[in-house]
Amino acid sequence: MKKILVMLGTRPDAIKMAPVVDCLKRRDSFFDVKVCVTAQHREMIDQVIRFFSIQPDYDLNVMKINQTLFRSTSRILLRMKGVLEKERPDMVLVQGDTTTSFVSSLAAFYLNISIGHIEAGLRTQDKYQPFPEEINRRLTTHIADIHFAPTQIARKNLITEGIQESKIYVTGNTVVDALLMANKKIQDDSSIQNRLTSLFDYLRDDYKLILVTAHRRENFGQGIENICLALKDIIEKHSNVEIVYPVHLNPNVQEPVYRILGVTQNGEKTTDSSGRIHLIKPLSYESFIYLLNKSYLVMSDSGGLQEETPTLKKPLLLMRNCTERPEAIEAGTALLVGTDRDFILSEVSQLLSDKKKYNSMLTDRNPFGDGKAAEKIADSLLSYFNFK
Ligand code: UD1
Ligand code: UDP
Repeated sequence: MKKILVMLGTRPDAIKMAPVVDCLKRRDSFFDVKVCVTAQHREMIDQVIRFFSIQPDYDLNVMKINQTLFRSTSRILLRMKGVLEKERPDMVLVQGDTTTSFVSSLAAFYLNISIGHIEAGLRTQDKYQPFPEEINRRLTTHIADIHFAPTQIARKNLITEGIQESKIYVTGNTVVDALLMANKKIQDDSSIQNRLTSLFDYLRDDYKLILVTAHRRENFGQGIENICLALKDIIEKHSNVEIVYPVHLNPNVQEPVYRILGVTQNGEKTTDSSGRIHLIKPLSYESFIYLLNKSYLVMSDSGGLQEETPTLKKPLLLMRNCTERPEAIEAGTALLVGTDRDFILSEVSQLLSDKKKYNSMLTDRNPFGDGKAAEKIADSLLSYFNFK
């Protein structure tokens, strides 16, 4: 038996790790799986943990409102020492590029514990975009012992940085597994469907739904403000559109979004004066996926949405200057639009009126995988530990 400690800190960590926890737990004659939540996010990770019925063995409860990178980094590092000394796992598994992932890897390294990195090899080659995630990824790569690259491009990035080919497994991205799991759960359960239908009973069938998320640090300030102004422009110009924006709980996002688009935040939902921009609290994963299925197009600066939208065949306008997921741009499923107000309006307007352009963004093939990434990761771990 090998003891694997799976680390979760933020909402996307939990979504992307849920299928992995599930697959490893099903191989219980080989793996003793422990789950540690740093709770770098609190409410937003709890929503995901509940949906996937994950039972954490540790909860480090580190989150503070408006935490700095210094604070979350040091709190996670110090609290991981005790967990690692107590459990002495054979491997710590981290995913992606969050503070939790990088700092847990560092803590494991300090105690000579092996590290497996899921979603390895994503790069923009710009150390400030996304900030601080690009550096979190690079540092995690050089601490990790085994690397699960979602795509061939990610694998090549790792090889370019000197990572041995034999330590890299190309698996697809586990977010596709999570999405398919969530979709199935919704389809199979009429009580979830009824709950979701009534949750969004304010949406009108005769409007095109635009789903929006934005939370990146490099967009704080002018970027987020421009995005909000562009949303106002879209609503003014297009009378057949409504927008749902689940607003990230970071105060640096909440403040400008509610100031520019809403009245004061008062409960679950705030609708602007046009009646067509709905600002809501972050959604549980199943509610978000339900809305994603209903949407006409998506506007976001998120990492995970670049991987989810091709599966559901939804065009994504990516409100960033560059991406570590060039596969989405190459496949034509995402368009890089930055945060220029006029440019965003013009691109959205084209997608609303030009059916040919819209259809050209719908592909049958998701470059991020087929929903079997977690199985591949579990199989790779079996061979890494010489079980097969
Ligand atoms: C983090 C990740 C980012 C990821 C994002 C997903 C790092 C450096 N960044 O950024 O890669 O895209 O999560 O959403 O790890 N907050 C709450 N409740 C919550 C979650 C957040 O109140 O459940 C607020 C808190 O005030 C917190 C702030 O959001 O201090 C920022 O959270 P933090 O994890 O530091 O950064 P994110 O911007 O969420
Ligand atoms: N998501 C969610 N509820 C929301 C918004 C997003 O569950 O209100 C999911 C979404 O489906 C995706 C993930 O959260 O899987 C993306 O997380 P986020 O945008 O916070 O981080 P990133 O992917 O940019 O790191």
